[in-house]
Amino acid sequence: MSSGIIGAAVTRIDGTLKVTGAARYAVDHPFDDIAFGVGIGSTIGSGTISRIDSSVAEKMPGVIAILHHGNADPLFRSAERLQPESHASESRPPLDDDKVYYYGQFVALVVANTFEQAQDAAARVKVEYKEQHPIVTLSDAPVPAGPPHNKYERGSAAKAFEDAAVKIDETYVTPPETHNPMEMHATIAAWNGNKVTLYETSQGVVNHRNVMSEMLGLPIDQVQVISPFCGSGFGGKLFPWPQSALAAMAARRVKRPVKVVVPRSMMFTTVGHRPMTQQRMRIGATADGKLVSIQQDVVQPTSMIDTFTENCTGVTAMLYSCPNVATVQNVVPFNIGTPTPMRGPGTTPGLYAMEAAMDELAVRLNIDPLELRLKNYAEHDEGADRPFSSKHLRECYQTGAQKFGWEKRNAQVGSMRDGNEILGWGMATATWHAGRGAAEVRVRLMADGTARASSATQDIGTGTYTIFAQVVSEKTGIPVNKIQVVLGDSALTPGPMSGGSTATASVLPAIARASEAAIQAVITAATRSSDGQFANADPKTLKMTNGRIHAQDKSPDSGVPFQDILTQRRLAALEGQARTAPDHDAQKFSSHSFGAQFLEIGWDPGIARLRVRRILTVMDAGKIINEKTARNQILGGVVMGVGMGIFEETLYDPRNAKPLNNNFADYIVSTNADIPKMECIFLDYPDLNLNEYGARGVGEIGITGIASALTMAVHHATGVRIRNLPIRVDDLLASTVNLNV
Ligand code: MOS
Repeated sequence: MSSGIIGAAVTRIDGTLKVTGAARYAVDHPFDDIAFGVGIGSTIGSGTISRIDSSVAEKMPGVIAILHHGNADPLFRSAERLQPESHASESRPPLDDDKVYYYGQFVALVVANTFEQAQDAAARVKVEYKEQHPIVTLSDAPVPAGPPHNKYERGSAAKAFEDAAVKIDETYVTPPETHNPMEMHATIAAWNGNKVTLYETSQGVVNHRNVMSEMLGLPIDQVQVISPFCGSGFGGKLFPWPQSALAAMAARRVKRPVKVVVPRSMMFTTVGHRPMTQQRMRIGATADGKLVSIQQDVVQPTSMIDTFTENCTGVTAMLYSCPNVATVQNVVPFNIGTPTPMRGPGTTPGLYAMEAAMDELAVRLNIDPLELRLKNYAEHDEGADRPFSSKHLRECYQTGAQKFGWEKRNAQVGSMRDGNEILGWGMATATWHAGRGAAEVRVRLMADGTARASSATQDIGTGTYTIFAQVVSEKTGIPVNKIQVVLGDSALTPGPMSGGSTATASVLPAIARASEAAIQAVITAATRSSDGQFANADPKTLKMTNGRIHAQDKSPDSGVPFQDILTQRRLAALEGQARTAPDHDAQKFSSHSFGAQFLEIGWDPGIARLRVRRILTVMDAGKIINEKTARNQILGGVVMGVGMGIFEETLYDPRNAKPLNNNFADYIVSTNADIPKMECIFLDYPDLNLNEYGARGVGEIGITGIASALTMAVHHATGVRIRNLPIRVDDLLASTVNLNV
């Protein structure tokens, strides 16, 4: 049982709870006396509230309170950073004043006995505004929000570009995208005296607790955040959003638990999004395809309230070997809610622009795009000037090319056919940085033969519950079905956010140390006993295998089940606790995951249909801890990449900054029918510089190469070069490739 469980395709231990409906998501927590809060969003994009008339609504059945800036209890800003980990994407407390910075900003909250009563009353609250023209386009927003970000230069990029034999100078635009998790943002706030419990859907219960303690002006031990299950986050639930503070404020006012759910339409306004990016890429190369210069100039909007940087330039300095690289990023304020990380933040749009430009260079040079990448392969991180902790990207390219059949690609545009479809093949590099934060875990061995592991991290659908059980099982030999894992409660020992693909790398060492400490506690108990097999034995000579304590030089079968030792000593449980720090050794290295993604599209010009036919991903993501949940993460990222490439775009009405497609009918995400056969191969090289298991994390990287591989494949099939995502069928009508040629 023990060693083989790391890396195995273990089925989620929380799977049954989820598929039977027994798993409790935020608003599933039952309260007898709950009241319902329905938010009112502003209907202008910029301006001030001149009047709120709630007189009719207040007299409607079931209405308990109507909160707005004129009568709300004050909240504090969380920007003071009183604690090391406390970040709110939107620093302005809700209902702070009469200012409106974006369409759909909360301007009031109606609290009533039932949801229907609250909704009905909300429709009868009259809000009048003094409206200003909102800024939602780059041409309307000439002034950056501050000095440029991400300024980086090595060598002399402008000069090298000028002198380069071959030049690409193109601008790529990625649209604003909205996270669309199944479970909408939601809060139940329940006060007990001066302590508040918040039932949330959160990617970071500790951060959420810290922020809310600041906003409510309470010590952290008077705020508890509970999020045992999360119907996905994609980054949108990393940090708290206004509905949480609103629910807490309302519950304090009405002295009852209050539930506030952000409706799908407001998921497009007040809980973050991926901002649009405009990226000018200038790339210079020698005639035989060696990069001599890369320049990347990015402009990206933030909100009027906060500066959020979508770090598009982060990977540019390290991705390829090139002596002259310069990047700069300007952030400009829009009348749109504050952006926030969305799967592969920064890297995903940034890498799209870089890889799209690389394909344009390959076409210009008439070099195979894969060969161009191998020619410019970075053996060390030239940006950070450090060795990579572990990099097997070359093998990703080679394995992927072989498995995909890349050598059969005819580079001629429109030359590959299958029946009525013109085929296009594309490939791209995928990458995401690896990191590791602090984590503190408790492992308890129980007299009934089970174990319990806990930490204030959370499982957002990724498989964190299961890997906790796998590590405890590896260390103790207790089968995973006898291991209970408790996460998603800020009152537990502090654990990491589920973000940046770092949770796994962060928690593994802490689970291992805590398991060992728990085993040690049982061994100590056994040897301190005056009777029993190990009475007065030297603890150092004992170990635990398959759930049994035994002498190191004897077989486990000769030992005693740990629960028997606990029972003999009249102990219900013994516990181990461990805190592990971020690994400072990792600072000597540049730690990134890499991958290669290959795909095939089919374009049927007769009916103007574009579809993706197959996608292959080869990942160098360190040691894979759970083959099944890791594959799920990569394939989920790929599906989201297809959405980014051909479907997703949030459209804002220039008159009032309203997201026009704020629903699932008009904001298109990939569905099953859009997704072909997908494959994922893990190289599985452990990155031991990051942690003892060599795991790096897999949450984001799957999305990162797909959009550029798609635009490349579309060009290969149709000759149309798309530089403005998403790819639209309308654009492909310009194709002059004809099936009959
Ligand atoms: Mo990820 S965008 O850190 O959830």
